[in-house]
Amino acid sequence: MIICIIGSGGREHAICKTISISPKVSKIYCLPGNAGTQELAENINLDINNFKKILKFLKESKVDLVIVGPEKPLVNGIVDYLENNNIKVFGPRKIPSQLEGSKTFTKNICKKYNIPTANFGIFEKKEDAIKFLKNSKFPIVVKADGLAAGKGVYISKNLSEAIEAVNEVFDGKFGVAKKILVEEFLNGEEMSFFIVCDGKNFKIFKTAQDHKRVNERDEGKNTGGMGAYSPSGLINESLEIKIIDKIISPTLKALQEMGEKYKGFLYAGLMILDNEPFLIEYNVRMGDPECQTILPLLKTDLIDIFNACCNQELDNMNIEWKEEKSLCIVLCSRGYPDKFKNNIKINNLNNLTLNNNDFIFHAGTTGKGNEIFSNGGRVLNFVSLSNSFKSSRERVIKLIEQLNWENGFFRKDIGFKIIDK
Ligand code: AMP
Ligand code: GLY
Repeated sequence: MIICIIGSGGREHAICKTISISPKVSKIYCLPGNAGTQELAENINLDINNFKKILKFLKESKVDLVIVGPEKPLVNGIVDYLENNNIKVFGPRKIPSQLEGSKTFTKNICKKYNIPTANFGIFEKKEDAIKFLKNSKFPIVVKADGLAAGKGVYISKNLSEAIEAVNEVFDGKFGVAKKILVEEFLNGEEMSFFIVCDGKNFKIFKTAQDHKRVNERDEGKNTGGMGAYSPSGLINESLEIKIIDKIISPTLKALQEMGEKYKGFLYAGLMILDNEPFLIEYNVRMGDPECQTILPLLKTDLIDIFNACCNQELDNMNIEWKEEKSLCIVLCSRGYPDKFKNNIKINNLNNLTLNNNDFIFHAGTTGKGNEIFSNGGRVLNFVSLSNSFKSSRERVIKLIEQLNWENGFFRKDIGFKIIDK
């Protein structure tokens, strides 16, 4: 099969590497890809928001299957556009993608189907939001509706912080904001829960814990993700049943009752309080860096899973996993998530000796000839599998130290809640 992957991050390199070992894959294109995908695939420099140009390329290149990595093209309806033009695509269509694209879409489903989530109010006017805040308990969470690339969420400790957040959102810090969400602060532990879905049936696609804050001990600004481990230490059989029965199944039912089907990865961001799950948010894709953390554990051919999803045959499939613990640390450009420099050369990458349980997935990198340069805030993902999170972490840190990239920084404490307790 000829495959095309849309996206350029660590998630897409991990997908690329995982499908590259499938005997069913003859050729991979990445749009636009990075220096890592370039070694396995042909990178094509196309704007991933220009659906018309993408369609033309796919037809000319006789692509059999498209895999969409990031949320933006999904929320903007790339799957509808390509499917309407007879292209096979793994990913959800536009309306189900509103699970990520619109927080109020998801909250309204939660309300109607009794899905456990933080209590909330949705406001279209600044004055109404502020009036509500004046009668609220703190801390409280203020969220912009719509896609804000992981930003647009404020945890406000008091009324003045919350009012400032409301002002920033309505003043357009995250683009035009028509609606704002104010919700109760849930004081639990987070977990990322993944499923893969064919429109009729779904399978669990493991759990992970990511670390969104830039500094050790989960302090400082929010980032796209500084590292992750899988499986999450919180998951157990009874919790899994509750997540499926109280959150996943009612959500899929809600979509069905709207006349929609969900095909693709679905990522539930959960807060767990006393073994009870609450939905914080949905993402209509794999997480990044959770994807890089989870895929090395997969034993089943990923292309078989994608095909089963597109052909509504997931029910017959048994997805198999390795038993090991996986841990990922992201090597970032100094300064991230604020200002950082691009185009800093990364020497040494080819001198690292990786064993079978070590993986390096590129994110913000670009290749020029035989040389690799940084091209983003999150640059490389180092992943290692072993019998314990502690030894996976030690191995990953050793590899990053061997690389010794002078412009890089990383968190040494990924997994601290499970390793260092
Ligand atoms: P989101 O973009 O909705 O995932 O929010 C970003 C982060 O804010 C989450 O990963 C949580 O750490 C935190 N967060 C969001 N909503 C809540 C909530 N209701 N209570 C506590 N923390 C929250
Ligand atoms: N790691 C968080 C995300 O992908 O949204």
